[in-house]
Amino acid sequence: STKPKICYRPIRPSDLETLEHIHTKVFPVRYEATFFHDVVNGCDIVSWGVVDSNRPDGRCDELIGFVTARVVFAKESEIVDLLGYDSAKSDQTVVYILTLGVVDTYRKLGIASSLIKEVIKYASSIPTCRAVYLHVISYNKPAIFLYKKMSFKCIRRLQEFYLINGLHYDSYLFMYYVMGD
Ligand code: ACO
Repeated sequence: STKPKICYRPIRPSDLETLEHIHTKVFPVRYEATFFHDVVNGCDIVSWGVVDSNRPDGRCDELIGFVTARVVFAKESEIVDLLGYDSAKSDQTVVYILTLGVVDTYRKLGIASSLIKEVIKYASSIPTCRAVYLHVISYNKPAIFLYKKMSFKCIRRLQEFYLINGLHYDSYLFMYYVMGD
């Protein structure tokens, strides 16, 4: 059968080329080579990969989706004002989702939802963590629906946040509160 068998696994150095290829394909924004290097080597970035181990073409270990994120200090994040008194002065952290993507033939199967759940689970396991947040370009309806479905709250609209091929686009900031300790 060619029914997909979706498996989650860590991202590793051998994923470099595929990871870069998918990013170029699914995002309007360009990322530096250092970003991909940091992801596959786990340098200051946490990530989760997805493969289809039942792929008809045999590329069972090739990435078809991913999420990348970074743990940052709450006080250094742009959501510090939303986190309450403690977050500004202590060791509190937040998880910032950098990129989330699924290859188009594997969309609408719940993969991105599962990846978001992994990030939330990870964030919840960090005692100092207060929230997960991210930016999404204002015209990206599928992603906006996804984050709303996952109970993220749309906190603000940032004017002209992105510059793509000489044009400015707004972004939405979405955030999910984490209970922590
Ligand atoms: N239209 C409307 N809503 C959609 C669509 C769509 N085409 N695709 C997903 N959704 C919403 C729905 O609410 C869906 O829930 P439902 O199936 O109950 O209706 C929900 O998202 C969950 O869908 P999943 O199957 O979990 O999402 P999928 O695995 O298809 O991935 C994603 C969604 C990541 C947005 C995918 O379309 C993609 O890779 N797009 C290109 C890259 C991108 O836009 N990434 C996010 C940018 S923001 C960032 O990276 C921080």
